[in-house]
Amino acid sequence: MTKMYHQLPVDAYTSQDWFEREQRLIFSRTWSFAGLVEDIPEPGHFLTVQAGLNNIFIVMGRDHRLRAFHNICRHRGTQLIRAVGKTQKALTCPYHDWTYDLEGNLISVPDEASEFPQGVDKSCLGLKPASVDVWRGMLFVHPDPAAPTLAEWFGEVDPLLGPHRPEELIEYPDTRNAYEIKANWKIVVENYIDVYHLSHLHSNTLYMYDHAKAEYGWKGPHYHFWEPPSAEYAENLETNLPTPRAIPEPHVGAWVPMLFPGIGIGASEDSWNLFIVKPLAPDLTRIETRTKLANVSDWAYQKQQWKSAGFWKNFGGPKYQGADASGADDPMTSGDFTSEDIFACEQQQKSLKSPFLEIGPAAVGESPIVQHQRAVLDFMQPAKDPT
Ligand code: FES
Ligand SMILES: [Fe+2]
Repeated sequence: MTKMYHQLPVDAYTSQDWFEREQRLIFSRTWSFAGLVEDIPEPGHFLTVQAGLNNIFIVMGRDHRLRAFHNICRHRGTQLIRAVGKTQKALTCPYHDWTYDLEGNLISVPDEASEFPQGVDKSCLGLKPASVDVWRGMLFVHPDPAAPTLAEWFGEVDPLLGPHRPEELIEYPDTRNAYEIKANWKIVVENYIDVYHLSHLHSNTLYMYDHAKAEYGWKGPHYHFWEPPSAEYAENLETNLPTPRAIPEPHVGAWVPMLFPGIGIGASEDSWNLFIVKPLAPDLTRIETRTKLANVSDWAYQKQQWKSAGFWKNFGGPKYQGADASGADDPMTSGDFTSEDIFACEQQQKSLKSPFLEIGPAAVGESPIVQHQRAVLDFMQPAKDPT
């Protein structure tokens, strides 16, 4: 009998076959986060992103328009460009130097007359287009050049995501980070949307918000969540905020949606954070984080830090401490909620291969987990498998 993890078979979290089907049926058929608009500021700037089975790059043309292409040379398929960079006016494949302009047209084939005596019809050998779109200051790509727009994809959930305008905030330099979690990407997402754990795993690290008053739900495959500040934090909120306000008063609270698939946002009165979940293997997930804050002077930051120091001085602490703690690097003694989450995800993944695993009842605050599993299942339906 297939062992189940709520709605999904345990295999969904452990097998290479599921992983590959998800890459094909979910991550190759949805919008992938690619970066922030400021990552491509001028003509010739480009970046690449993996969207399921597809490596795609975005480049700004000489006309200042963003275009996305499949990063596949039309000669023998070599990836044309790597990572992030800037070119003057053309993209040259490293293998045989076929060269494309910023609009994706093949413009030069070396030794064309001697190597291709029949000629090369360059007009049929342009780069294959993908879709690129911008939403709330973020760049996304979709492998399908005719994909529905981001306005359509996120339209219904957008009004529930808070009043932040990320394009007007500035990136906080040290927060651009990436790390790996030894767990399936769905374990990571399920942890992110598990409302039940907030008061428990994070009993000492996230209590500036009132989890009992959280409001959450779904719009299509996208999860939305908001919770108000706790009474203690709210009492002197404008003083207690660690950094200057990023949204106007009177908006308060934490908006922590998880957009499908694996695009987490954590936004509050004073910050806007991205938490991008990228599956690397059935039991390995990469997280990329970026943070934006109010675009105000250093002096404003300094003042806010002084004002709030009193509140934060006595705030938080580890969940466990003292003689029971297993040592200085025990994540549960870190007092850091991200370390607590990583620890919980990795501990959970470890049990998935045990024949004794049997999942207990889901709490009300875990209902988002079951909903997410349904969204995954919906994309995995064989009827929707084009191959
Ligand atoms: S594979 Fe790109 S030029 Fe040959
Ligand atoms: Fe958490």
